[in-house]
Amino acid sequence: MANWDGAGYAHISGLQRTMATDAVESVSLAGAEHVLDVGCGDGYVTRLIAARVPAGSVLGIDPSPRMIEAARTADDQLTNIDFGVGDVTTMTFPRDFDLIVSFNALHWVPDQQAAYRHIAAALEPGGRALVQYVCGGPRPSIEDVAMAVTGDARWSTAFAGFARPFVHIDPDALSSIAASADLEVIAHSVTDREWDFGSREAFARWCTVGFGDWTARLPSADIPAFIDDVVDRYEAVVGRPGLFRFLQLRAQLSRRTAVLKHS
Ligand SMILES: C[S@@+](CC[C@H](N)C(=O)[O-])C[C@H]1O[C@@H](n2cnc3c(N)ncnc32)[C@H](O)[C@@H]1O
Repeated sequence: MANWDGAGYAHISGLQRTMATDAVESVSLAGAEHVLDVGCGDGYVTRLIAARVPAGSVLGIDPSPRMIEAARTADDQLTNIDFGVGDVTTMTFPRDFDLIVSFNALHWVPDQQAAYRHIAAALEPGGRALVQYVCGGPRPSIEDVAMAVTGDARWSTAFAGFARPFVHIDPDALSSIAASADLEVIAHSVTDREWDFGSREAFARWCTVGFGDWTARLPSADIPAFIDDVVDRYEAVVGRPGLFRFLQLRAQLSRRTAVLKHS
């Protein structure tokens, strides 16, 4: 798993900021909830939530120490927020949460069952979860294109034995994955979204921060050429430079019954 560049992410994450800000605004909150933000990144969205639960609290967790370092250094007045290094597939907590949110993190977790099991185990009975992440569909994703490039003659030695670090689930599979974790899907939607980075260079910068799992296999001098190959090939999928298209799954879930803790 990549150690995401927290400082770099703040400069290129306008896309994720916009999507998560919209999602946070649509969540109904009474103001006293205890919330967990899974895959919180640099904590920007976690802070938006903390501001909406002044009598509650928010804990943001992320497996990337550099993201958590960036999250902890933000300068604000919020006192109801905390951050820690943690992975959704192994997380355990001394308390249960009323609400768990996760924005554009869960497609980086190949073991979806484990992710949802741990989400369920960290919720109060009747607690809610809101997850939003990239799902699968007919159009090749940027990550699919990156995997195709790893097979090119120039890169295949460096990527020998490289396993896909992501999963784009079939949205129709969500209810059975959730049910296996004793979670019920209350509502879900899939939106075909696009984001215009404005230039090929800006899109390549975004790919460089997000493709740490791939670039960790390469000497740093080769990283720009690998990203170039991915960006070039992706242009054929979307039709023009700097454009990014993706399917965004959004789901609201609730914990059904008592679940086995920390399985
Ligand atoms: C695109 S960033 C999203 C950050 C933030 N939620 C946002 O919307 O700006 C994806 C994050 O998922 C995190 N992530 C990857 N694997 C994870 C896992 N197994 N458990 C929790 N978070 C994970 C990465 O470290 C990264 O910070």
